[in-house]
Amino acid sequence: MKADQTPLPKILVLASGSGTNLQALIDASRGRDFPGQIIAVGCNQPGAFALERAAQANIETFVVNHKNFESRDEFDASLMAEILRYNPDLIVLAGFMRILTTDFVRAFRGKMLNIHPSLLPKYTGLNTHRRALEAGDTVHGVSIHFVTEELDGGPAIIQAKIPINAGDDAATLANKVLSKEHQIYPLAARWFAEGRLSLVASKAVLDEQELPQHGVIFNEH
Ligand code: GRF
Repeated sequence: MKADQTPLPKILVLASGSGTNLQALIDASRGRDFPGQIIAVGCNQPGAFALERAAQANIETFVVNHKNFESRDEFDASLMAEILRYNPDLIVLAGFMRILTTDFVRAFRGKMLNIHPSLLPKYTGLNTHRRALEAGDTVHGVSIHFVTEELDGGPAIIQAKIPINAGDDAATLANKVLSKEHQIYPLAARWFAEGRLSLVASKAVLDEQELPQHGVIFNEH
């Protein structure tokens, strides 16, 4: 809470893996002026390092293991029930490697963000770095977008670009993209928590301006 005791917007992070984006969010949220608080981290993989990172930061965690469910609907219903216990203002998918059902997405419409390692609308789905290389692209990057029913298809909020150089392979691109991810996810979460960012009639709106299809282009300077 701030000195005036106004509760900060509550952020819930969902992750599946190593959680480096979660760590970037945790680090940012420790800053004095960060306008939100991470209240819980949920995971579908019991052994994910993201859970360790959350525990280190004294953040509550929960696991909903997708392997314990017969169907995607049942998994999502259980995940939704866990999330609703925390009544979050914002859900941040940070390397959460599950495809979500329409019901789940609709329940959190306008308050759920995802990060995707490509310059959307290019390369939705998996293996984005390899696909960018195979296509001979000279520029690659990462997008943060609102989650809508279309997989990796919701309106973009911010994109960061990296050049593809002659010696790059999928691993070097992944590293370069990841370092951009860690810069732009806390920024997007900040905008949302400040009340500057919203989803209005299927468009991302920042400071009352409808964003272009690619969102804001991140420029660190
Ligand atoms: C990131 O590359 C993200 O774009 C992708 O999964 C990776 C997650 O990394 N969807 P981490 O778990 O945050 O380290």
